[in-house]
Amino acid sequence: MTEQQPLPPKSFDPTTFREKPVSFVRRSGRMTPSQERAWADHAEKYVLDIAHGPAATSVADGETGDPEQIFGRTAPLIVEVGSGQGHAILHASQTRPDTNFLAIEVFRAGLARTIIRAEVAGVENLRLAEVNAPELLEKYLPAGSVDEIWVFFPDPWKKVRHHKRRLVNDDFARVARRALRPGGVLRLATDWENYAEHMRQVLDAAEGFERDFSGEWAERFDGRILTAFEEKGIDKDRRIRDLTYRRGTATSAMTATIEETP
Ligand SMILES: C[S@@+](CC[C@H](N)C(=O)[O-])C[C@H]1O[C@@H](n2cnc3c(N)ncnc32)[C@H](O)[C@@H]1O
Repeated sequence: MTEQQPLPPKSFDPTTFREKPVSFVRRSGRMTPSQERAWADHAEKYVLDIAHGPAATSVADGETGDPEQIFGRTAPLIVEVGSGQGHAILHASQTRPDTNFLAIEVFRAGLARTIIRAEVAGVENLRLAEVNAPELLEKYLPAGSVDEIWVFFPDPWKKVRHHKRRLVNDDFARVARRALRPGGVLRLATDWENYAEHMRQVLDAAEGFERDFSGEWAERFDGRILTAFEEKGIDKDRRIRDLTYRRGTATSAMTATIEETP
């Protein structure tokens, strides 16, 4: 049996990204023996080798990745932020073999579970990144390289004093816009009404995004399978809200400059 590998010996929490709190509290719980084994045997195949900066989930300055090299082919790229145990992205990668999928998650046990499922399914079009998602969108991927970004059931940070930890904020809109190609799509879903309203407010106001739905909310995205988080929301009689935004195709010289500024 493989020895339990400790998480990187760095201080990672509480930490900040751009002087703001990050949207997660990193769980350092032990992995199960099968997760440990999957990580030891297969992480190299799935998990991107990204040098970390000051924190264990940072992306070091100057680290970049080329999707064509990462996947060994040119294909549309879909990125899921906060993929949890990988249910949604694994289903999508199986049903859409012509598309490349990248799951970003800071919870290593969740990534290990995703690896176990990916091995069983035998998918070739899935890679994983164990980093703080906004940093990867801002620094690692080439600007305009992503076709879709998915954010399904992000931690709602329910208490008002914790709202500043929510993933979806003005800065997230900025880095998502940078990573998306013109015409690319940002899909979000949440079972927390107050967070849904917050997302809509942020993205309605965000430069470079336009609503891709009419009426109050988007239709349920039919490419999303039911995960435990969605099921839990439904069980508690909460409304599931979908939002879909499209990156505008018009890029002013000013916007282009901002996007490329490190
Ligand atoms: C509530 S769970 C939802 C998981 C999954 N999307 C689903 O629907 O089953 C949110 C996940 O986002 C991850 N997460 C939160 N902030 C993140 C960040 N900044 N970068 C990467 N992952 C993050 C958490 O570790 C957690 O696994």
